[in-house]
Amino acid sequence: KRKVTTNRLKEMKEAGVPIAALTAYDYSMAELVDAAGVDVILVGDSVSTVMQGLETTVTVTMDHMVYHTTLVRRGVERALVVADLPFMSYQVNSDEALRNAGRMVKEAGAEAVKLEGGRVVADTVRRIVDVGIPVMGHLGLTPQSIHKFGTYQVRAQEEEEAEELKRDAKLLEEAGVFSIVLEKVPAELAAEVTASVSVPVIGIGAGGNCDGQILVSHDMLGICTRFNPRFVRRYANIGEDMRKAFEHYASDVRARSFPDESESY
Ligand code: KIV
Ligand code: NA
Repeated sequence: KRKVTTNRLKEMKEAGVPIAALTAYDYSMAELVDAAGVDVILVGDSVSTVMQGLETTVTVTMDHMVYHTTLVRRGVERALVVADLPFMSYQVNSDEALRNAGRMVKEAGAEAVKLEGGRVVADTVRRIVDVGIPVMGHLGLTPQSIHKFGTYQVRAQEEEEAEELKRDAKLLEEAGVFSIVLEKVPAELAAEVTASVSVPVIGIGAGGNCDGQILVSHDMLGICTRFNPRFVRRYANIGEDMRKAFEHYASDVRARSFPDESESY
């Protein structure tokens, strides 16, 4: 299995081969996603909503992300492992950002980091890329700014915000990102941005004309059903299966039908 690299993702864009990406937060999920041939595994700060039971991503810490990235890395042979830099780990100054990006690579084994924003983070992106750590951008709906926007609604529907997003994508490209995640923006705008930059644009709720797609694994598996926007396609109902299995087990225990002789010593 040849490891997916940032260069390989650029080649895929040039060749018109769509990039498949999913999230993972632990070893066993990462192993399954990797074995399925998914190209990019993101250790997202969505760990907050999926694993920690929280409403926003803003309280996720560097220690949380380092821990989960370490677990994921152990399960991956082929996919590119990208780790989210959590809120306030890269905004104060670029020295701190560099140190935290370094932790993700050195301590956790990430092969790239992702951070949110455009113009504001461009200089920081450049510094991280310059020391040899690939950076993925993230534009459109940026959940770490939830308290500024107040909602998780579709972004860049107005001309002004759309123009700013297009500028930000170019700035990130110039700063050296290897890819950009584009979240919850009109499909037409996403197509325009995708055509305007040389790096692969990975969409989530951004229509079918991006260079690739990403979803939160627990959402597409139906493990987490609380979060249900139209861009999540349900590929399974694992949550339902799990609940049934747990009920079955509990009823077997209560009926003393588990364990039986063959399951005993
Ligand atoms: O944290 C996350 O899972 C993400 C993806 C949804 C892009 O940032
Ligand atoms: Na994220």
